[in-house]
Amino acid sequence: MDSLKKPVVAGNWKMHKTITEARSLAAEIASKAAEVREATLILIPPFTAICEVKKAVEGTEIKVGAQDVFWEDQGAFTGEISPLQLKEAGCEFVVIGHSERRQYFGETDETVRKKVLAALRHNLTPIVCIGETLEEREKGQTLEKISSQLEKSVFTLSPQDFQKIILAYEPIWAIGTSRNATPEQAEEVHSFIRNLIAERYGKTQTSCAIILYGGSVKPANSFSLIREKDVDGFLVGGASLEAESFLAIAREAVRKNEG
Ligand code: PGA
Repeated sequence: MDSLKKPVVAGNWKMHKTITEARSLAAEIASKAAEVREATLILIPPFTAICEVKKAVEGTEIKVGAQDVFWEDQGAFTGEISPLQLKEAGCEFVVIGHSERRQYFGETDETVRKKVLAALRHNLTPIVCIGETLEEREKGQTLEKISSQLEKSVFTLSPQDFQKIILAYEPIWAIGTSRNATPEQAEEVHSFIRNLIAERYGKTQTSCAIILYGGSVKPANSFSLIREKDVDGFLVGGASLEAESFLAIAREAVRKNEG
């Protein structure tokens, strides 16, 4: 197991921040990014702010991502955005299958699969979200749900393509609720995912795979989560909307590899 992978800390701003607000948040994070060079930082603003955020982080190692993508390159698809457009705007990453997309906008494992392929065609790194509802957890169906989502959306990828994606385990009951998964709950699912990857793609792939945790990550709980063997970083919502809390999470994340 590669214990010295660079932790990834991605901030999903969701439908927050105007262009002006996004520019100033990105600039503030950029001004202090050198402190957390040992983490890969990814800012994921709304579509309208991508170009400005990209400009604001110029000269740093901060990466920019988008919150969704469509699977066609162009055409009559009102309201959608193509991988080509995101790439040109400065994105290197794209979140696919976030539970809010699944819950409110009809995203399915099949649309996730198509979007992942489209992103990869344009060298965008997909951050694919999976996770169970509270009801599924209470019924003991968590692992079954995770394995079914993986089978249908990403385990159809070739080994070459699979190594280009990032996974994010986000229990739906923990998103925006201030109720994060305990480190043990997160590790149980992360190590389960790693075992499934090993079965499907082999040992090397599974040790390289990046599996993020998301759901009420805060500075105060991030070290206990990142300390778990199979947690490689975070997808942060609410706490990524302020520079100080986002950077504090990144500082906790880099402690994983210290001594
Ligand atoms: P949260 O959101 O950190 O506000 O819980 C996480 C996410 O939706 O990715």
